[in-house]
Amino acid sequence: MNIQNILDSSLRQKWSVSDFDWDRPVDMQDVSEKQQKNLAYVLLFISGIERVGAEFFRIHADYVDDPIASQLFNVFAEDEERHADAELEMAKRLGAEWHDLPWITRLTFKVVQRDLNNIRKSKYGSGVHRFGSTMILFAELGLDGIVMPTLRNGMNEPLQDEVWKKIDQDERRHIAMDYWLIENRYERNIAFENQTTNNRKLLPQIKNLSFPISLLSAATTPIIAIPGFLMVGRAAASMPVKASFFRDYWELVKNIPKRAPHAPELAAYSAPTNFIRNVSLFVQDSKLINSFARRISSNNKLAPSY
Ligand SMILES: [Fe+2]
Ligand SMILES: [Fe+2]
Repeated sequence: MNIQNILDSSLRQKWSVSDFDWDRPVDMQDVSEKQQKNLAYVLLFISGIERVGAEFFRIHADYVDDPIASQLFNVFAEDEERHADAELEMAKRLGAEWHDLPWITRLTFKVVQRDLNNIRKSKYGSGVHRFGSTMILFAELGLDGIVMPTLRNGMNEPLQDEVWKKIDQDERRHIAMDYWLIENRYERNIAFENQTTNNRKLLPQIKNLSFPISLLSAATTPIIAIPGFLMVGRAAASMPVKASFFRDYWELVKNIPKRAPHAPELAAYSAPTNFIRNVSLFVQDSKLINSFARRISSNNKLAPSY
């Protein structure tokens, strides 16, 4: 894979949030006002996730060993920030802004971003880079395979569709590099093992760096993240999500080793893969989600009120 080409096309195809006419009236007659509000809440939440993704790309930019890849990951961080800004604009058109999210959700994103930013500059940055080398692909395949098609289906509106196309174009490059990163990480692990076999003095010093999460992050983030996520979960539950998206997502995850053959050799691979397989099987078997999606598409009354 020629990563210089990916960098060139990233820079060439860069777009701006101001390229779009956000004052254009919303063309969503088939979607109730309540459901538009639900879509807006999910968009706000996804914009927070995009900013967390940007932090992860900055970590990869700092710790990857290839200067072109480093430059690319910084460009991807800018992409994710732009996606977040565009999603805020999309949400605004549908009637909700960032401050409309529950305060605990906003606080969660603030803490997670702050922690990741601090970790990047600390000795734990390389540990998160290692752990995140596979996790970023799982996350981006999920966004690409489940979240975006669900939101696109739910909106089906000309302006929003143009924006999704631009986001999608960026995400294809991100995912291509996510596969590259897995192989690059594997090669460096092998080189590191060889180096430590030859020079055992290095072991204790470098071993300390493999603890990925700071104490502060480990202690505070789950406590505030769980209620924060649950509150937005009500809006997410009203989305017209299809069980087939989960099946497609599992297919993508199952096939990761076809594009990154050494993915199974990395530490953060088996557990998330098994988790995704189990969730996917559960959703496919679940009559609940299928009947929920059917009812939502024919009747918006199920949408929760705020
Ligand atoms: Fe994104
Ligand atoms: Fe991305």
